[in-house]
Amino acid sequence: MAIGKLFGADKSAKISIDDERIVMPEHIGVIMDGNGRWAKSRGLPRKVGHAQGAKNFRKIALYAKSLGVKNITFYAFSTENWKRPQDEVNALMDIFDENLDDFDEFIKEKVRMQFVGDISKFRPSIVQKMHRLEDASKEFTTMTLGLAVNYGGRDEIVHAMKLISQDIEQGKLTKEQITEEEIGKRLYTYPCPDVDLIIRPSGELRLSNFLIWQSAYAEYYFTNINWPDFSKKDLDDAIIEFNRRNRRFGGV
Ligand code: IPE
Ligand code: IPE
Ligand code: MG
Repeated sequence: MAIGKLFGADKSAKISIDDERIVMPEHIGVIMDGNGRWAKSRGLPRKVGHAQGAKNFRKIALYAKSLGVKNITFYAFSTENWKRPQDEVNALMDIFDENLDDFDEFIKEKVRMQFVGDISKFRPSIVQKMHRLEDASKEFTTMTLGLAVNYGGRDEIVHAMKLISQDIEQGKLTKEQITEEEIGKRLYTYPCPDVDLIIRPSGELRLSNFLIWQSAYAEYYFTNINWPDFSKKDLDDAIIEFNRRNRRFGGV
């Protein structure tokens, strides 16, 4: 049955995440925004918000797995975030470095880890930890957990175009063989399917260069809650709302 038709026109019908009719999105994207405002509203330095946000990432990622989500990608650091004050960028790098040591909890849960973006720009200790986690989890199939770091949707498309022109130069591909599928195969998120639900907390109503190719037909869910306060119940609500949407993909 098509998503959205499930609960009919009655928008007020109470539905629980355990309802057997609930369809999980194939791939959820989460923009972890609002760490700074979360800290500011408590009179704390922004980096405390980032540390709290990282903690929440681990909680929500494991919860998604328990719900049976197959693919989820969290936006942690954009190609544009380098323009923040140096001390904030340094604090974020320290938080990544420290948190990566705790990501073995995902390995224990048989979660495949994928770092989405140009990770070569990070300090060597971070790059090594990311490679180790990807390597140790590459055979796992329960859920793919993406962390978008030094990620930009436009940068990703430029990167894919470079790979395509390289393949053409080397005679592995012809111009006629360039298709959406061939481009998709060269994105950082490959082999994850397109995102079908994008969640953005903190009240901002924009994509900020996140998964711009993959979200062509995504459903969007916005909430005013800042990321460190985003709860399991908030993820339930987003998935339930996704199930109310009537997705037409250009059809009728
Ligand atoms: C998101 O929180 C984390 C990163 C972009 C690294 P912000 O730091 O953007 O928080 P706000 O938007 O300033 O509240
Ligand atoms: C988007 O948040 C990037 C991440 C959450 C990692 P930003 O806070 O950087 O986005 P803008 O600046 O509000 O668009
Ligand atoms: Mg922000």
